[in-house]
This record gives sequence, structure tokens and C-alpha cells, in this order.
Amino acid sequence: MKLQNDLFLRAARGEQIERYPVWLMRQAGRILPEYRAVRAKLSGFKELVETPEFAAEVTIQPVDLLGVDAAIIFSDILVVPEAMGLTYQMIEQKGPWFERTIRSREQMNFIDRNIDVQDRLSYVLEAIRLTKKELAGRVPLIGFAGAPWTILCYMVEGKGSKTFSESRKLLYTQPELAHELLQEITNVTIAYLKAQVEAGADALQLFDSWAGILGDEQYEAFGIHYIRQIAEAIPGIPFTVFSKGAITSLPKLASLPCTTIGLDWNMSMDVARTLVKESKTLQGNLDPCVLYGSDELIENETRKLLKSFKSQRHIVNLGHGVYPDIDPEKVKVFINTVKSYEI
Ligand code: CP3
Repeated sequence: MKLQNDLFLRAARGEQIERYPVWLMRQAGRILPEYRAVRAKLSGFKELVETPEFAAEVTIQPVDLLGVDAAIIFSDILVVPEAMGLTYQMIEQKGPWFERTIRSREQMNFIDRNIDVQDRLSYVLEAIRLTKKELAGRVPLIGFAGAPWTILCYMVEGKGSKTFSESRKLLYTQPELAHELLQEITNVTIAYLKAQVEAGADALQLFDSWAGILGDEQYEAFGIHYIRQIAEAIPGIPFTVFSKGAITSLPKLASLPCTTIGLDWNMSMDVARTLVKESKTLQGNLDPCVLYGSDELIENETRKLLKSFKSQRHIVNLGHGVYPDIDPEKVKVFINTVKSYEI
């Protein structure tokens, strides 16, 4: 089906656009009362993720209610470690929790090898097919996965962490084990993202939320090396790499075979453009905290960001996921400022 609004895809490919496209990381769920109403009918987050009808419904909510230029499939990066054999719970007010973690060679046995993603992640693929049908070509649908390094962090740590020191410890004390685990995650992620495209995803994003806790050299060896394998395996589709906090790795990220680099708010658009050159689209990077400000402040900060763009190769977004206590009306001010801005 032909898309009615393909601004996001054109901006990613570096084609002509009439205005900059805008969407928000973590737009599905979190901030919308309409999301919480659907969630309240269910046993919890996982039931929502695993029921394609509900996942499709909350994926489309921000398109209807906020007017974003792209939808992102409602799921989580943690479905991949679960498919590999490590089940998780999403604990209210606390976040994810895995009963089993991988910190030794023996614990690698917890991992199921050669899994069939069509089988184990069928609920995500079905949610994508259903969402595509219900979107009826209004906007593109973004599929996603966690980048291998960030997924390793959750598999090793078993929960969130401020330092992820168990994961970083593994890189120094058992680097072969870390590489073996990263390769397993990479293989599953390639099959999973390919399946998402087959199911109807129009674009893909890799979330490397914990990229910034590694030094440059380590991020290249344990992070970018695997992202490159993934990007190379899935050519020809708008593909965004969001490596949060990886400022000094930007030149290396710029050499990846992807269309788009996501930037967090610590990165200067000017410096990023110089490092990334014109061959890639930049996505981002308003500080999510701007949305706590007055309407006027949001308009001014958003316009300042838009004015800093030196080419059309931009997709507007926040520098990280929208925070859960942000008023959806403030998000609309941000979105409408972008939509009314003349290139
Ligand atoms: O972007 C979207 O709107 C699509 C859905 C989406 C979710 N998680 C739903 C979710 C996406 C893209 C993610 C990605 C994700 N999940 C990341 C990478 C992006 C980032 O923020 O850095 C990470 C690190 C996770 C892991 C995760 N999932 C954590 C740490 C938590 C708990 C804290 C939190 O963020 O709320 C989750 C839970 C989660 N994933 C929720 C949602 C809507 C909240 C759960 C609920 O509704 O109770």
C-alpha cells in the first residue's frame, strides 16, 4: 500500500522533503492516558506486548492523538533475551528483572541456540502485520531491536543498573565469552529484524541505550563491530542507529552502512554534522526536559534546534525517550512547532 505520509522515509534516504518529519522515542505508551486505560484492562506490560490487538492499538494512539509522522511498534528490546531463553518480569515502578543471568561459561547453557524467531517472536510479527493493516498507509511503521551491547547488559546484569559494572567487568575478565554472547545476540537480532521487515516494518532502529558507558576502543570492539554486522545484513531499508552517549564514537558510527544516526541531547548538531558529513540523516535531539517548560520555551528551543540544521537530512526527535510524566499537550506543542516550520 502506498503511504500517504512518507516524509520520514524520504528524510532518511536524503530525498526532497517539504518539512521536517517528527516523532518521539517511546511515544507509544508511557505518557498517554489512553495507553494507561488499555494497560489497566490487562494483567501487565507483558500481556500488552504479547497481545497483537492491544499492541497495535497503542502503537497507533500517538499517530491519532499526537500527529507524529511515524509509528513505532509497541514492544520492548527485552523480547530478544527472552526469546533466547532468559525470561523477564516487568516489575511495577522498578523495571525489568531476569531470574537467570549470564556471567560465566556454565551460564551460557541458559541460552537456547539456533532459535526460530518466527516462532518465538511471532506475537511481535503479528502485531506488525496488524498495525500495518490498521494504519492503512497513514504513516510509516518503525520496527526496532536493542543493539547487542545493550542486550548483553541486561543479560549479564539481570536488571537495570547505574554503572553496568558486571557487564563491563565481563569485557575485561572474560572477553571471549562476551564476544560469543554478543555474536549469539547479533545472529538472533539479524533474523528478528529481517522478519520485522517481512511482516511490514518500513524502517528499523537499533537502540544502544548503554553505548555511552564504554570507552571508544571498547565500544568499537564490543558495540559497533556487531551493529555493523546487523546493518550490513539488512541493506536497502531506512535504518537508524541510536547509540546514546557515544559522542566520541560518532566518526565510526558515521561509517556504518545505515541511513540515519540518532543523537542524544548532549551532542551538538553542528559538530555531529561535521563528523557525520552529508551522507547520513541525523535524528534528534531536543532535551526531553524541554517539555517540562512553558509552551513558549518549547517553541523557542524547538525552533533553535530547527535553525541549527544545515541541510534537509534531518528527522526531528527528542534526544532520548519521552519521560513518563510529560503532559501530552506539551508534546503537541513540540510536534506542531516542527510541522509549522518552513524549511
Ligand atoms: O518507543 C516506543 O514507544 C515503543 C515501545 C518501546 C518500549 N520500550 C515500551 C516500554 C521501546 C522502543 C522500548 C525500548 C527500550 N526498552 C529501551 C531502549 C530505549 C531507551 O529508553 O533507552 C530500553 C533500555 C528498554 C528496557 C526497559 N523497558 C526498561 C528499562 C523499562 C522500565 C522503565 C521504563 O522505561 O519504563 C521498560 C518498560 C517499558 N517498555 C515500558 C514501556 C511502555 C513501561 C512499562 C509499563 O507500561 O508499565
